[in-house]
Amino acid sequence: MRVEQLNDEGWAKTYLLTDDNYKDACLIDPVFDYTDKYLDLIEERGLTLKMTIATHTHADHITGCFTLREKTSCEYIMWKSTASLGVSKLVDGNSSINFCGHKITFYHVPGHTEDSMIVHLDKHIFTGDFLFTGEGGVGRDDLPSGRMKDHWDSLSVLSEFSNLVIVNTGHEPPGTEMKSLAWNKENNPILNMETWEQYRDWQIESAKQLGYVSKIKVALPANMFGEIPEVIPWLE
Ligand SMILES: [Fe+2]
Repeated sequence: MRVEQLNDEGWAKTYLLTDDNYKDACLIDPVFDYTDKYLDLIEERGLTLKMTIATHTHADHITGCFTLREKTSCEYIMWKSTASLGVSKLVDGNSSINFCGHKITFYHVPGHTEDSMIVHLDKHIFTGDFLFTGEGGVGRDDLPSGRMKDHWDSLSVLSEFSNLVIVNTGHEPPGTEMKSLAWNKENNPILNMETWEQYRDWQIESAKQLGYVSKIKVALPANMFGEIPEVIPWLE
């Protein structure tokens, strides 16, 4: 199984999953702005896009999932409780999807959003905004459907995974190398917190520093209704 991070620019991370013995492709958290780039790459390599997965309903960019489904008829997969329209396959903790002979499973980790999930496949977990690398901590919990206490409680799910899994996150500064869960347990301040109060204070401070989410008023309705708006200010 090959896992490639595709977005060189920007902080939103998209992963391409492929296997040398198959012609199928899977995209995790594709960004609408780059859908043509993804499709060109998939075509260049002679692959077929079988599925796209959104780890949660994004508020900071328009997902590429429903556009890619419209263009290629691939599956569009999200956690079962999502409010987003246009999803073709809803999954839960009992779901198991075969991709190129590998098993993909899903873990509910509400907090950043109610529909946040971890996607697990072989030696990789894809954590979306549930967990970032090292000092990045975790995603903010002050956006729609976010709940700080749920996020804190969801962290216990990490005990289900081997310390050797690579934590592939939803946002990082460009060029960030994805690290193992063991490394993150040492270096991520959130995973070294002892109390909920510490976590709550970190979230409050983090939200203060991050400020307003610039794309939310366009991106969130687009993702929930599964529709590309007529005007996308940042692409004008
Ligand atoms: Fe997010």
